[in-house]
Amino acid sequence: MWRRFRGRPRPPPPLFDPHFPILDLGDREFITLGQMLESLVCFGATGSGKTSGPAFHLLLNIIRAGCSVLVLTVKPDECQRVKRICEIAGRGSDFRRIGEGEPWKLDLLDYELSQPHASVESAAAMLDTLVELASRSQGKNEEPFWQLLCKRLLRMSIAAVWLGTGKCSITDVYRFVADLPQSPDQLQNPEWIRDSFAGQCYLAGTVRDLPPGKRRVFELSVGFCEEWSNLSEKTRSIGHTMAVNILSQFMTGPVADVCASGESNLTPDEAMTEGLVVCVDFPVLLWREPGQYLQQAIKSTFTRAALRRDVTKSPRGWCLFVDEANWFADARNDALFASVSRSARAFSCVFAQNIPLLQQSFGEEGEQAVASWLGNFNTTLLCSNGSHQTNTYFSDKIGQRRELFLGGSTQRTDEPPSLFSVLASTVTGSFSEQWSPIVPPHVFATQLRTGGVRNGKLVDFFVIQSARMFGGLPFKLATLRQGDL
Ligand SMILES: Nc1ncnc2c1ncn2[C@@H]1O[C@H](COP(=O)(O)OP(=O)(O)OP(=O)(O)O)[C@@H](O)[C@H]1O
Ligand SMILES: [Mg+2]
Repeated sequence: MWRRFRGRPRPPPPLFDPHFPILDLGDREFITLGQMLESLVCFGATGSGKTSGPAFHLLLNIIRAGCSVLVLTVKPDECQRVKRICEIAGRGSDFRRIGEGEPWKLDLLDYELSQPHASVESAAAMLDTLVELASRSQGKNEEPFWQLLCKRLLRMSIAAVWLGTGKCSITDVYRFVADLPQSPDQLQNPEWIRDSFAGQCYLAGTVRDLPPGKRRVFELSVGFCEEWSNLSEKTRSIGHTMAVNILSQFMTGPVADVCASGESNLTPDEAMTEGLVVCVDFPVLLWREPGQYLQQAIKSTFTRAALRRDVTKSPRGWCLFVDEANWFADARNDALFASVSRSARAFSCVFAQNIPLLQQSFGEEGEQAVASWLGNFNTTLLCSNGSHQTNTYFSDKIGQRRELFLGGSTQRTDEPPSLFSVLASTVTGSFSEQWSPIVPPHVFATQLRTGGVRNGKLVDFFVIQSARMFGGLPFKLATLRQGDL
């Protein structure tokens, strides 16, 4: 190979190589970029070494493979780690931090509505995700009626603002929702039409030249406004409070500067084509709800952009990378993404502590939701874990084997030992076959190294990949050295 290119410049590496090794499992076994396209989840207790072990190596090699990455953050030091990993990979210039004091902006609604096939539905999808997040954030799902009302209010508001004025940012939707008529009389009042933002949007929309499809959507929103003014005060105020609670997360400080400024200088399309590593540095532990909502909205916008891109023009892989994934897991949209992402060269690489924590973040339907959410990932890594439920789940998943148990006993006579007495004693033997776990649950809790100096910086973990056997076994025990940052 070397001789062939001696004296001539080497060809650049391909932008997407499915054979690129992403994780070295030892014994010449690898997880390749092609296999990553079916997504990966890693479980491990706090301190099990998942961030400094598998997460470090995965992110490093995903970046080395030329992929574009979106990193969501929960802990305050994560962004710095990602920057350092980019530098180690030799791609420091591709790192972009979306955060306080940075110039990067992405007006989420405006970006979505300026796409070639933009629709009210695609823009509202992002806010729908947030309504679901908000309604399960107390661990108890809101009644579906209120979720539907809130989603409809937001959808119809986007329709009226966008089709009425030709542009729409989150700030505009907030103003519109705040200005909706409180009674049928107010709706007929010329002063309300003249002075309120909602009235102005409707007025502008009636005289704008809209194609028939959009005109119909606009008229639906006018109908909704009438319907809204006729609702009981209690219904209106609950719907209004839910919508304002979501929109207001984006309305102030650096979060508003990033996603509601009317400007976009870092779009998902550009990031994916150029192979940028974008880290959203609004860690949930520091920024709480606004940080969580902003990152969930950015995740939703990037995933939709990844799925609609043309891989012949933008051939790089795109990875959604999330440590502490329970903060951003979304049963419906994650499943939708997983079902079609492979052909769009998009995948997720996420880390979580245990199943009970995920169930809690999925709200009331947690158990079912987690079971189906886990189906989105073809590869599972299991670091040391103290969660019995998680360990039992994966022990069951690895399966059982038949084991032969031998038993025996002798019945001695009371005679003093002699050749005769040995021959006269009764010897019984038995054997039985039983099914027992190939990897019993306690192994995940007690047998895996968790890094640190006392373990020689080594992190052990199990790898399970659907439809893959490792030397005749349905799992592989692998070891990685913790990355020094
Ligand atoms: N480069 C390193 N060298 C030695 N020890 C390290 C290194 N990086 C981390 N450690 C230690 O290894 C242990 C595992 O750390 P790590 O942060 O990777 O765990 P984790 O599974 O991500 O935990 P958490 O869920 O709390 O984030 C910790 O005790 C940490 O202090
Ligand atoms: Mg960690």
